[in-house]
Order: sequence, then C-alpha cells, then structure tokens
Amino acid sequence: MAQYLTARGHQVAGIDAGFRREWVAEMGGRSALPVASLEARLDAFESARGTRPHVVQGDLTDRDVVYRLFEEARPEAIVHLGECPSAPYSMIDADHAIWVQRNNIEGTMNVLYAMRDLAPEAHLVKLGTMGEYGTPNLDIPEGFFEIEYRGRRDRLPFPRQAGSWYHWSKVHDSNNVMFACRIFGLRATDVMQGVVYGTRFFGSSADHPADPELHTRLDFDQAFGTALNRFCCQSVIGEPLTLFGLGNQRRGFLPICDSMQCLTLAVDNPPEAGDYRVFNQFEETYTISELASKVAAVASEMGLDPRIRRIENPRKEMEEHHYNPDHDHLLALGYQPTRDMDSEIRAMLEDLLPHHDRVAAKRDVLLPDIRWDGSRRKSTFLDGSNGAGPEEAAGEPSSVDEPEAGAADVDHAVVAEAAPLTRG
Ligand SMILES: NC(=O)c1ccc[n+]([C@@H]2O[C@H](COP(=O)([O-])OP(=O)(O)OC[C@H]3O[C@@H](n4cnc5c(N)ncnc54)[C@H](O)[C@@H]3O)[C@@H](O)[C@H]2O)c1
Repeated sequence: MAQYLTARGHQVAGIDAGFRREWVAEMGGRSALPVASLEARLDAFESARGTRPHVVQGDLTDRDVVYRLFEEARPEAIVHLGECPSAPYSMIDADHAIWVQRNNIEGTMNVLYAMRDLAPEAHLVKLGTMGEYGTPNLDIPEGFFEIEYRGRRDRLPFPRQAGSWYHWSKVHDSNNVMFACRIFGLRATDVMQGVVYGTRFFGSSADHPADPELHTRLDFDQAFGTALNRFCCQSVIGEPLTLFGLGNQRRGFLPICDSMQCLTLAVDNPPEAGDYRVFNQFEETYTISELASKVAAVASEMGLDPRIRRIENPRKEMEEHHYNPDHDHLLALGYQPTRDMDSEIRAMLEDLLPHHDRVAAKRDVLLPDIRWDGSRRKSTFLDGSNGAGPEEAAGEPSSVDEPEAGAADVDHAVVAEAAPLTRG
C-alpha cells in the first residue's frame, strides 16, 4: 500500500508491529515468496522511489505510540490495515480469541481518539471484511438498509452475523467507528473487503517492482493463507487443492492490485465530516469449488498436475446459501477491475514456481487442524481415507470455501501494510 500510494504522489508514513511474521511462524509456516527485513525493504523502497517513508515499528494498542506518530505525520488520511486478519487464528483457544479481539478493537480505538485529538479533519479508511455480514438469506447492501417494522421505517445498519471471533472483532470495530463519526464528527470509510489474492500489487505488470525485496509476502498456512493463494501453492508442489466440506460457499474476491486501487479511490474521495460510509470491496463472487477449478485449469495449461479433493470442514459455516452482496459505491467512484482471474492465477503460479522448495518444505502446514469447536485435529479427506481416496478431476465443480484467513499481505512488513498514514 505504501508503494502504491507513493507512486501516486502521496507522502506516506506508517506503523507496523511486525506481528504477521510472528503469527505465521507460530503456525509453522513462512511466506512462499521470501520477505526481507523491514530495514532492507525500506532501503529498497528508497532506491526505487527516491523517498524513504517514516516508519515506526510499534504497537497500535500502545496509545502513546499512536499519538506520537500522529504528531509526527499529521495525517490527512489514515489507511488502517493493522489488525490480526485470521479467522482460524482467533479460533484456536480463549487466549487467541481474546488477544485478537483486544488487538483489533483497542488499536482502532486508539486511532479514533488520536484522530479526535490530533487530526479531526483526517479521513479514516478502515479495513473491515465482507465476513462481517455472514451469509444471511437476503441480499447484502453496502452497510445500511431501509427497513419497515410495525408500520415505521428507518435506515439502519444491516445486521452482521460474523462467523469467527476475528470477524466479530471487525463488527465491533465497525460499530465503534460509526459511533466515533457521530460523536466526534470524524469522517470514515469502512471497507468490507472480500478475500484478496495475488502477488502483483501494481495495476500493470510493467509497474511490478523489479527488486524482489519489494514484493509482497504470500502465506499458505491454514491460518494466514487465503483460499486462492493456498490453491496456487498446492498446485506448485503437487499437493491436492483442498476444499472444505461438501458445500458451495460463495464469497467475494479481488486481486491485490485492485484492493490497492479501491483503497486509493477511497482515500482520494473522502466523505463529509461526520459521515460514516460503507463500501463493499470485491470484484466478483465465486464458490470455492469454482476457484479451485480455475486454478486447476491454469495449472494444467502450465504443465502442472493439479488435483482437487474435499476435506472435512474444520469450520462451522453454511456450505450452501444465498449470496448476493451489492458493490456499487466503488464502481461509482471509478473503480475499474484491472485483471481477469485467470491471468492473475497464471502470474501467481509463475511467481511461485521458482520458490517451489520453500513451499514443499512446509507442506505439512497446508492441512488445517484448527476446528471451530476448539479442538485441534487434522481434517481427513472426504473422498476416501486420508490421502488414499479417489480424486476429483481438475475442473470439476466441487465446493467449500475457506472464506478469509488473512494473507495477501499488502506491502509486508514495510510501512503501509499495517496502518499507513498518508499525506496526499
Ligand atoms: N487479506 C484479505 O483477504 C483480507 C480480506 C478482508 C479484510 N482484510 C483486512 O485487511 C487488513 C490487512 O490484511 P492483510 O491480509 O494484509 O493482513 P496482514 O497481516 O498482512 O497485515 C496486517 C498488518 O498489521 C500489523 N498489525 C497487526 N496488529 C497490529 C498492532 N496492534 N500494531 C501494529 N501493527 C499491527 C501486522 O503486523 C501486519 O503486518 C486487515 O485489517 C484484514 O482484516 C484482509
């Protein structure tokens, strides 16, 4: 995000505690694409862009740190990505559930108070998630809907039905941000983001940073790998593309470069003071089986040998449901999807193949064992005994989804990915 905004003329500062590296290590994983140290990434940033962003390695739950950064940066816009983004991580046990909720909610509260005291005119672009809505048997509006009840009408927040402690932390954030706009007169855009995928975060391949130290990370473990990223990693090392359960869970997805585009559009088009608005940010909805089929088709064209298999769903979630969310606000601001999914999958596979060994050495982190009932047990294959059963032909529709589990780390440990503060 820092690179993307800087390339568009913004001056960027940021804060990141470096937690992502610790979480992935705790899960036994690592990024499929090598990630340099924060200092090395900042050096590479400076060489490539001719400017070095002011970056604090600090914790957003420390109010003094947040206030100090606001005083130094005097932001006009705040892009707040700095939260733990993993549903499975939050479901491990009470310690993880409480840590994720405290980290996410307290960090956002500190940002809201820092805005009130030091940057009341600034615009907060806050990352929420489409997972806040859950899967109601209704179309999903962008944040608010008109409702009639006992003869009276009102415009109210659309009910949230989150599916993990992580997703509920985002719901609580949404309520807090909405309330802060009302009482402090702040302006905020709450971005209900779909699942992000991809390795190329500029809109065109020509802009993709040549220096590998500026590439994004890409995780594939059960807690921090998102569905499509994990399928690509599985394809590259000849592991089956694993679908959770028997369902046809449908979610909204978008490539990482379009996530950057949308967040920049939000930054460049702030709402009025006191306004709290909600954007549903995704490009298209797919079932996970459709995604796996797409990855398998592209991987086959590239000479790989992908297989799709179903495993026990470690989550408690609906596997078949209505799903029709609106996503008009960003399109109205000029959002133009830049990539078709097939070419993005091809680019990902091309980027991952040279790092085949990094993924292969950690293949054991692919199969999930964090279960929504609080136990830990590896999911077994549903199409035969563990590893021995028949496999689905690549391209056949199957199912199941891993809604979102973080990943698609924007600009890594660099600045912006966490909570960049921008002065445009
Ligand atoms: N990746 C997705 O598919 C997706 C989908 C929907 C929403 N989101 C949201 O987007 C944001 C970014 O997600 P991501 O996938 O890039 O995750 P990420 O883990 O790569 O980025 C979050 C960053 O925030 C930092 N961080 C977390 N808590 C912090 C704290 N207390 N103080 C300072 N830094 C802290 C982490 O170290 C990490 O670098 C998150 O808010 C996530 O919930 C992501």
